[in-house]
Amino acid sequence: SEVMLQQTQVKTMLPYYERFKKRFPSMRLLAKANIEQVLPYWAGLGYYQRIRNFHQAVQFVMKEFKGQIPGTRETLLVLPGVGDYIANAVASIAFDQPVAVIDGNVERVYSRYLAWQENIKSSKTRKFLQEISQQYLHKKKSGDFNQAMMELGALICVPKNPQCHWCP
Ligand code: ADE
Repeated sequence: SEVMLQQTQVKTMLPYYERFKKRFPSMRLLAKANIEQVLPYWAGLGYYQRIRNFHQAVQFVMKEFKGQIPGTRETLLVLPGVGDYIANAVASIAFDQPVAVIDGNVERVYSRYLAWQENIKSSKTRKFLQEISQQYLHKKKSGDFNQAMMELGALICVPKNPQCHWCP
């Protein structure tokens, strides 16, 4: 789901996710499938490199990790297509690791909350966000906290006309 959600909104992605899970209910079945059999289930989501990488990552996990998805950020980062976002999302949501997720929504929430004035794309901002998000992270509920932050940015702290009166 996080691979799909990297470039796609939750609402849009859900029916794709359901279809995909129905056709490929296990990593074993997905790993055994030919990429040509998998691609149709991604049609419409775009950014096809994501599914090619994911398919390879699943094959890698089956072969090298005996089908066990690695539970730490560092090991997840070894897999094809896995960068900071996926590694931290999976490590926190699925394995309770205390690592903060930063996506576009989270960037906006923190920069508004702390009245950050620098260019959002600068390396100074990146460093600020990494430090701040790690500091604010609820270490015992990192997965819930990360998902709540993304959701806050997606639904309330939206780019235009933010719903500040609903902000927790
Ligand atoms: N956006 C991407 N992944 C998400 C998640 N797990 N929860 C809420 N929003 C998300």
